[in-house]
Amino acid sequence: MKQSRTWWKEGIVYQIYPRSFQDTTGNGVGDIQGIVKRLDYIKRLGIDIIWLCPVYQSPNDDNGYDISDYQNIMDEFGTMADFDELLEEMHRRDLKLVMDLVVNHTSDEHKWFQESRKSRDNPYRDYYHWWPAENGKPPKRFSYFDVDGNAWKYDEPTDSYYLHYFSVKQPDLKWENPKVRQEIYDMMHFWFKKGVDGFRMDVIPFISKDTSYPELPDEYNGNFIPFYANGPKLHEYLHEMNKEVLSKYDIMTVGETPGVDRDQALLFVDEDREELNMFFHFELMSLDRDGDEVFWMRKDPWKLSEFKKIHSDWDETFAKKGWGSMFLSNHDNPRTVSRWGNDSPEHWYNSATMLHTFLLTMKGTPYFYYGDEIGMTNIRFDNIDDYQDINTLNRYELLKQQGINTETFIANEKDASRDNGRTPMQWDASENAGFSKKKPWLKVHPNHKDGLNVAEQEKDKSSVLNYFKKMVQIRKTHLGLVYGNYQLLVKYSEEVYAYTRSMDSENYLVLLSFSEQKAVIQLTDFMGKEMKLLISNDTNSALKDNANFELKPYQACVYKVD
Ligand code: NOJ
Repeated sequence: MKQSRTWWKEGIVYQIYPRSFQDTTGNGVGDIQGIVKRLDYIKRLGIDIIWLCPVYQSPNDDNGYDISDYQNIMDEFGTMADFDELLEEMHRRDLKLVMDLVVNHTSDEHKWFQESRKSRDNPYRDYYHWWPAENGKPPKRFSYFDVDGNAWKYDEPTDSYYLHYFSVKQPDLKWENPKVRQEIYDMMHFWFKKGVDGFRMDVIPFISKDTSYPELPDEYNGNFIPFYANGPKLHEYLHEMNKEVLSKYDIMTVGETPGVDRDQALLFVDEDREELNMFFHFELMSLDRDGDEVFWMRKDPWKLSEFKKIHSDWDETFAKKGWGSMFLSNHDNPRTVSRWGNDSPEHWYNSATMLHTFLLTMKGTPYFYYGDEIGMTNIRFDNIDDYQDINTLNRYELLKQQGINTETFIANEKDASRDNGRTPMQWDASENAGFSKKKPWLKVHPNHKDGLNVAEQEKDKSSVLNYFKKMVQIRKTHLGLVYGNYQLLVKYSEEVYAYTRSMDSENYLVLLSFSEQKAVIQLTDFMGKEMKLLISNDTNSALKDNANFELKPYQACVYKVD
């Protein structure tokens, strides 16, 4: 079935972590003018939509995800005039801008919280979740970024605890208070009236809470995320937000939805329910993690059959209603090629381009994280002093306090830390990779000197970057790759991911090798069919004869089948 056509289904998204993209002021931190400077580059990639991580006023406890003023720009990034210029320059180039909406929590430096903590009868008191100390210790809630994992923080002025699912400097907003919701909706109108084209919604399933704060049911101990994601009024609030704000504009929304499984998916994105357009599920990002431990890598390697199952199951979920979003990394994750491919010199090129082929031939809107287009890799810091991320730093601190050896932890962070995905963009081979004239806030990956940079890849016809551009054009000129039905082939192969996409008389076969060895498969259904190779990331087509295919390590091929 062909789903209704919409710009955000056909668009390709590029995510920018502004701190790390381009510094124009020489303070070692990226800024908005830096993005303006690079818009022509982004346009040349074939991108349609930019998702910009938070640029609002923030004390940067969590790099902008702790907002102290929703309607002003962070000083380090520039001014509102810079923002207006960015939006205008983007629209002039027919690029859409999606902002980050972080409304589960604010910064503790937000005016609302500053007021709220002053007294129990302050007009802003009920903007946040408070537990009076005379009621004893509040029921256990886990925090992601708290040194001791406790989401309740005692606050002396009012002898009460406040709730913070993330750091102590990120108190959770109380959505149960209609005034809070109205403030948020007004703020959203402010940005939409400026002309922004959508929101990515940070941990949106966490906004509704049972304000009787019951004891955490046993089944959620050690796995609190689904509990946080299933608050009683979540869908009521999302529907209200849709009615009050979203439905009034031609915009797109994508929720970040930890704790949401396939059974719940359509509650969010079934068009008839009028909530969101898309969301980012967490099943893939958990594949290489240790059970419920979000930030620990599992010991055995993940299997391709598991990877395929996740994508096939989610495709099935959205086969008739809703719409998926396809991504392999973001600012909370390590780099795509290091994680899902192989960043050794031997396999880096093929695996980076194979993964581009994957995202651009699946159903669902593709999201690329800045730098993935050139195949940026994990930096793998050895030394804790090089890390900047609050998550790594706080967990290290906790281990030290407990007297636990930190070596295993650092070994884990080399693959898991969010800083792997936050190193500065590699524009050229100069010192600091053309990102900044001064020492960057986070170290630049030294491999920018070995060809892993935009300037050199732009010149090289067969670079990862130029493959990316070519593959983008293939998606854009073959509508069946956007809307066509997906069907998995050779389900159990641990070497090759093969699938078809078909719409009306348009058919495609996609073959992706995830193996370091040569891989051979036979697809008898294709015997005698005319196969036109649209793209391959290796010298030859994988097709030998009689529907026998032989793929080089990490080879990707897309065929049009007649
Ligand atoms: C999810 C964001 O992606 C992450 O970067 C942030 O730390 C948390 N939400 C808290 O806002």
